[in-house]
Amino acid sequence: MKLLTIIGARPQFIKAATVSRVIAGRDDITEILVHTGQHYDANMSDIFFEEMHIPKPDHHLGIGGGGHGQMTGRQLEAIERVLLEEKPDRVLVYGDTNSTLAGTLAAVKLHIPVAHVEAGLRSFNRRMPEEINRVLTDHAADLLFAPTETAVANLRAEGLPADRIKLPGDVMYDAALFYRGLARRPDWFAGHGLSEGAFVLATVHRAENTDDPARLAGIFAGLAQSALPVVLPLHPRTRGRLDAAGITPAPNIHIVPPVGYLEMVWLEAACQMIASDSGGVQKEAYFHGRRCVILRDETEWVELVEAGWNVIAGADTARIAAALADPPPTGETTQLYGAGDAASLTLDILVDMTVSGG
Ligand code: UD1
Ligand code: UDP
Repeated sequence: MKLLTIIGARPQFIKAATVSRVIAGRDDITEILVHTGQHYDANMSDIFFEEMHIPKPDHHLGIGGGGHGQMTGRQLEAIERVLLEEKPDRVLVYGDTNSTLAGTLAAVKLHIPVAHVEAGLRSFNRRMPEEINRVLTDHAADLLFAPTETAVANLRAEGLPADRIKLPGDVMYDAALFYRGLARRPDWFAGHGLSEGAFVLATVHRAENTDDPARLAGIFAGLAQSALPVVLPLHPRTRGRLDAAGITPAPNIHIVPPVGYLEMVWLEAACQMIASDSGGVQKEAYFHGRRCVILRDETEWVELVEAGWNVIAGADTARIAAALADPPPTGETTQLYGAGDAASLTLDILVDMTVSGG
């Protein structure tokens, strides 16, 4: 089977790394990798390919930046050209970025079956660009790989047929298990006077936070009240918005450039607690037995909130400060995201796939 995978943004590199590694060990799949270029800085893209041994993309489209319509439209046009040239049997897309939507649209219009990994996640907030991307992708795709029971229920509630939906688990859990042993302490860690187990790890990049100066200020004021130092590998989008909003992070907030996955895994395991608006980081907190204070008003990963593990604090300074002061949960984490074999289950199903009509 010739499988064409479309990726473009940081979380997709991490998901694809795990799946591509399993593909490399099989002889029934040939993978063609397409990088749209949505993320392009070395520490947002190249570092993941190098550290996680992701194969060099067969096609790099170099399309990043710009507005949603411009980015998605240019990617759609360029991906169509690649699909016509490569003629794959299946297309694989991940998550909910503009690259996901562009890849899906290009493929379905050429009648190439599309499989969506991380299908069925919903925030029910249509103002999030990701929500639009994932709803449209799920309704256009032929095969939907849901990471959780909740995601399956969301897809069924939208009338998507049961034979299109599969529940292999979450490939990010596979990644967490595989890369845990390769975690690497960042060189700068000691230089900041930080101690293991005694810092909060934070990330902030969601458009709803970065593009609203009041929310951004609320989050940084909340982090400023943390009793422990805060380490914040800063997404380039947020860097620009902080400057524009005139927000100077408090001295207890240690801003560092985005880190590679191996360093991120080390930080997630070494911190006391996490505060983040990232989808992936919310779950990784759980994989490492850490609480995530969610810097959003809702989450797609509701099972972690329902289990009392993660806490939604929004951009509200007092709620963030209170959640950071609350003793973190202890004890074993039960497994909500599969058995760590989601990538190989996904590929088995993909190889056997018969596309349902409809
Ligand atoms: C995108 C995804 C989001 C995902 C996130 C992961 C969409 C709509 N959003 O958001 O779902 O959670 O990636 O990180 O697809 N920039 C750089 N260098 C880079 C990448 C981005 O400077 O390598 C800056 C640019 O100013 C760019 C801005 O960040 O315009 C936003 O990048 P973009 O890819 O549009 O959105 P993200 O916020 O990264
Ligand atoms: N991540 C990373 N370095 C960082 C910040 C995040 O490697 O500096 C990883 C993180 O561990 C997770 C993924 O990037 O695996 C999440 O990506 P992001 O938060 O950008 O996107 P989201 O998951 O919200 O779509």
